[in-house]
Amino acid sequence: MKVQPKGGNMDRRQFVASCSAAMMASWLGSRAEGEAWAGMPKKDKTIRRVIIDTDPGVDDAFALMLAMRSPELKIEAITAVAGNVPLELTLPNALRMVEICERTDIPVAGGASEPLLRKLVTAAYAHGKNGLGGVEFPAPKTKPVPEHAAELIARLIRQYPGEITLVPIGPLTNIALALRSDPGMATIVPGIVLMGGSLSGGNVTPAAEFNFYVDPEAAAIVFDSGIPITMVGLDVTHKVELTDERLVRLEANKTQVSQAAARIARSITETYRRAGHPGWPILNDPLAVSALLDPAILKLTDYHVEIETTGALTAGESVGYRHGDVRTAAPLQSSGGAVPESAAFHSNCKVGTGVDVQRFFELLIQRLG
Ligand code: RIB
Ligand code: CA
Repeated sequence: MKVQPKGGNMDRRQFVASCSAAMMASWLGSRAEGEAWAGMPKKDKTIRRVIIDTDPGVDDAFALMLAMRSPELKIEAITAVAGNVPLELTLPNALRMVEICERTDIPVAGGASEPLLRKLVTAAYAHGKNGLGGVEFPAPKTKPVPEHAAELIARLIRQYPGEITLVPIGPLTNIALALRSDPGMATIVPGIVLMGGSLSGGNVTPAAEFNFYVDPEAAAIVFDSGIPITMVGLDVTHKVELTDERLVRLEANKTQVSQAAARIARSITETYRRAGHPGWPILNDPLAVSALLDPAILKLTDYHVEIETTGALTAGESVGYRHGDVRTAAPLQSSGGAVPESAAFHSNCKVGTGVDVQRFFELLIQRLG
């Protein structure tokens, strides 16, 4: 599904603003201020319906396994997007994960093969050429559903108004496409819990984290939608390294899921070592999933976050305000009808600012066991 900016030759900022204004108008019409944040785990034991949008991806594989082994979540769908590797790999990799976890009951749909406006940038250096650290799992027998991911997301949200939390752990292209196809949908999505962004520097450029770097326009649409967001960014994820000691504990579990996860982690770590890189795999995506499972793992802080979409050096940057007026850059010319120079602060997301690393790995290793 190739997205064409409505009205022909809009520039980037107009494209994003046109999508967001429609959604914001529909959202402001009906969402009470201060509604509960869906990213917060439920106090009661009721099951939470989620859709996971993913670009597997080493850490995505861990996130999918954690989610599929967690009874607190009713996974209504898994949707694949291009990101770490192209869609022709992320989709079958998602299907491989549902087979490894014996959860072929979960519908899997393919989505965007490229960002809304930009050329796809992938990350085989971090995930291996096949996206799973180079581990060759059998080709999946399970077929994806025929629906495009964005259509499936929009349909399920309409089917379960107010109940579905979106859990994107890759570039936000599919989510933005779904929101653009049905702007009114934003008012019946209780929350988004995403892996992405950073308030302390990027991992692709000094400014941008990979998921927002790949598709800044999609990220801007999501952050302008008015849906309450829990942003699990590099500020906390950089602390959850799958070190050898933790990997040995995972390998001690002789289950199919733990062994598959450990094989992926061992293989990508060996790739890093061959490339002279001393680091360990960082489990960004499962940390985002854990925010839905255990409230004590993450400390969340209210921010107003906007996404840079025009900077040649900074596109994809998540710019956070803790308080005070939200300002755009100094004007280059006298402007009429442009975004106001400043707007009063209001929080549009909760950002992960602290993490209990030990507690996270106890949960992860236990659930994959
Ligand atoms: O920056 C880390 C994020 O980008 C993770 O979701 C990883 O899987 C990649 O998609
Ligand atoms: Ca990912």
